Amino acid sequence: MKQIKNVEYGLEKIFEGAQDFLPLLGTDYVELYVGNAKQAAHFYKTAFGFQSHAYKGLETGCKEYSSYVLKQDKIRLVLTTPLNSQSPINQHLTKHGDGVKVIALWVEDATKSWKETTSRGAKSFMEPTTEKDEYGEVVRSGIHTYGETVHIFVERKNYNGAFLPGYQKWESEYNPTSVGLKFIDHMVGNVGWGEMNQWVKWYEEVMGFVNFLSFDDKQIHTEYSALMSKVMSNGNGRIKFPINEPAKAAKKSQIEEYIDFYEGPGAQHIAVATDNIITTVKQLRERGVEFLSTPPEEYYKAVPSRLDKHHHILQEDIVVLKSLGIMIDADEEGYLLQIFTKPVEDRPTLFFEIIQRMGAKGFGAGNFKALFESIEREQEKRGTL
Ligand code: FE2
Repeated sequence: MKQIKNVEYGLEKIFEGAQDFLPLLGTDYVELYVGNAKQAAHFYKTAFGFQSHAYKGLETGCKEYSSYVLKQDKIRLVLTTPLNSQSPINQHLTKHGDGVKVIALWVEDATKSWKETTSRGAKSFMEPTTEKDEYGEVVRSGIHTYGETVHIFVERKNYNGAFLPGYQKWESEYNPTSVGLKFIDHMVGNVGWGEMNQWVKWYEEVMGFVNFLSFDDKQIHTEYSALMSKVMSNGNGRIKFPINEPAKAAKKSQIEEYIDFYEGPGAQHIAVATDNIITTVKQLRERGVEFLSTPPEEYYKAVPSRLDKHHHILQEDIVVLKSLGIMIDADEEGYLLQIFTKPVEDRPTLFFEIIQRMGAKGFGAGNFKALFESIEREQEKRGTL
């Protein structure tokens, strides 16, 4: 397959209408609260190819919680578990199970980011705070977004340690190889009935984002279920947050199932980019990552006609993509390849998407029907359709 590198957007403004009061350099890290960070870290290393990066816990003098920082190219995942029953992290775990607590954003100025957003109506989660160690200092601040999820602004221009002050470099003797995951392409939030537009407005007003794609329930539905989605982006396109809400249909929407099990709004999936989805997905499958079922034969038969005017894909490539269950979609600018994991915890909540963009800037709208039919087959098994 012809290799086209995933394009990471530069810092220039590419979305008209986005405002400049909150310049974002990228995703800094994503923190999950989990029941057993030590074991979760092993899973993300073994199955997803993350590397040991930094650690905080009893051995570093932190008696409240343990945090394992994992890295793969530009992606940093932080896995945190409380160390006693008094920690407020327990309430989060009891209510939501394992899930994303923090979507941290890399900024030049964390104090200004906090002032700009809180003065526009954001609820503060953490006032600007400077942390120091022998490697320099980091300023962080934070605001609440949907559900109990938060955004933390990270200013690290005066820091050259492994992760953040208080963490030590994590040297492990167990170092499975990377599977080629490069950076976070987008992260999706699920919100409750009728709440999507309120969050769209919040990202516009509080964060200066722009709504650049919308899908209504007429576009995103199957025979049984439906949802609505609006994609929010910051001005340089580096941060993209689609927001989903459930829509009425004959059976239960997957968004409603998520909200029932997460017991509220939260992050639904983390989409990670690769430059070679075939190699990446082959390795992920060998390492035990479970994906949603492969779309039916008719789906792959229709691929050449769906792609024709954008890009030509060789029949052999379609056979390989089908053997791995990878889906293909095109928009005016190119095409994209994507696949979705099953939920990565027992509650049907958070999952991952693996994506390779071959010019397309969309989110695979042409795959929604096939994708949702796969999800519905899983919902059927869970008795939650
Ligand atoms: Fe996605």
